[in-house]
Amino acid sequence: MKSEWEVPATLKRSPRVLLKLRCPSMTTPDPGLFDKIVNLSKRRGIVYPSAEIYGGFRSTYDYGPIGVLMLRNVKDAWWRSMVQMRQDVVGLDASILSPPAVWEASGHLSNFTDPLVDCRNCGARHRQDKLKKKDLCPTCGVSGELTEPRNFNLMFKTTAGPVEGAGAEVYLRPETAQGMFINYANVQYTTRKKPPFGIAQIGKSFRNEITPGNFVFRTREFEQMEMEFFVPPAEAPQWYEYWCQTRLQWYIDHGIPTDQLMLRPHEDDELSHYSLGTSDVEYLFPWGWDELEGIANRGDFDLTQHAKAAGAKLEYYDQVTKERYTPYVIEPAAGATRTMMAFLMAAYEEEQVNDDTRTVLRLHHRIAPYKVAVLPLSKKPELSGPATELANELSGRWMCDYDQTQAIGKRYRRQDEIGTPFCVTYDFETLEDKSVTIRERDSMEQVRIPLDAVRGWLAERLDE
Ligand code: GAP
Repeated sequence: MKSEWEVPATLKRSPRVLLKLRCPSMTTPDPGLFDKIVNLSKRRGIVYPSAEIYGGFRSTYDYGPIGVLMLRNVKDAWWRSMVQMRQDVVGLDASILSPPAVWEASGHLSNFTDPLVDCRNCGARHRQDKLKKKDLCPTCGVSGELTEPRNFNLMFKTTAGPVEGAGAEVYLRPETAQGMFINYANVQYTTRKKPPFGIAQIGKSFRNEITPGNFVFRTREFEQMEMEFFVPPAEAPQWYEYWCQTRLQWYIDHGIPTDQLMLRPHEDDELSHYSLGTSDVEYLFPWGWDELEGIANRGDFDLTQHAKAAGAKLEYYDQVTKERYTPYVIEPAAGATRTMMAFLMAAYEEEQVNDDTRTVLRLHHRIAPYKVAVLPLSKKPELSGPATELANELSGRWMCDYDQTQAIGKRYRRQDEIGTPFCVTYDFETLEDKSVTIRERDSMEQVRIPLDAVRGWLAERLDE
């Protein structure tokens, strides 16, 4: 699909007014969509509130049988485009726990803070930078009672080993990125990659958010998909622009409409302590535009800091030009859990079919939890036996659901609601003509296919 977006030549720190890159045909989100997604998630086993039997634990969520498939697909789709389909990016899986030295050098111990205010009237705590009105408490509605802001560090601290206290402190990573920086020399040496090249990682990160909320949008435990792209310093601006466009296109390619996406460069006062320039990919959530991913030009900040603090050589020596330099880093940093939520919202649709309302998730086939479902028309063993065999065969290649309970129409609706692209119906005629009916989710069109052609028919549509 061709993008409708125009990305200006230089994205770095341009005036905000030039860069509100909204598509002219922008739609307003349905205000009820948020509740619909939360309800669907609970009802269909996508996302559950964690520790629900103990009353819930507002800041974390558990991914159910459908959600775990979808989240895995989001991560696989990212990995496919960022690692598998590229020769210049390799993967890594670094540890979650690390010593304070890492976070001292990275600047997180002193800078990874949010401004916290307390309400003297009701005791609620808020992030000052997220308040709609500077002096008004959003919890009790009283103004003039908020304290002066103080910096609150977002990192979770714990202790390693049986001894508590100084020397035993460790941190849960608040971003996966530092794992890539501290392994830069190891990876460069073992892979013999030369800049420009990248290291990609998917994994859990932890932040003691002051105000977690909006379902899985802001949680204290979440998953990130980050890539650090090491480049010669002079090439940093062009790579920054390249990654901004490439990442924006990834969301479009996976089903988010262009009029619900924009690229927004940060104002100078928004930039993180390490950034020379950042643009966010924003999605039009039901509460308004909000961040899905940040693409940052981190300069040589991280490698220089770790080289100084660890006394390590984190440079690159170019044999051809005989130049030695510290690479600059362009970092596309996305949230897997947040992206999954955006895919759910963009795909959700209620449409009128005859006298019925059909809820359908029009998910891209790579993101859909199940790719196919096998539905025998009857529970009778002469149908359910061979239908189970077919489901078992298809399961070797794709996530395949099998459902034989209730009327076929109800079963189609159940699959529509979780976004299954194709349903294969095994009926009594199948026993005679050795063919099955395949129904397509979006159009609801049906085709009759010989049994021995089903695999190839699906592969053409699911494996590209
Ligand atoms: N290494 C750079 C970095 O971590 P970030 O903008 O703080 O940058 C990257 O985080 C992405 O991680 C965000 O765009 C968002 O999608 C996701 N993310 C950050 N904090 C999150 C939270 N508390 N809950 C869910 N996702 C979060």
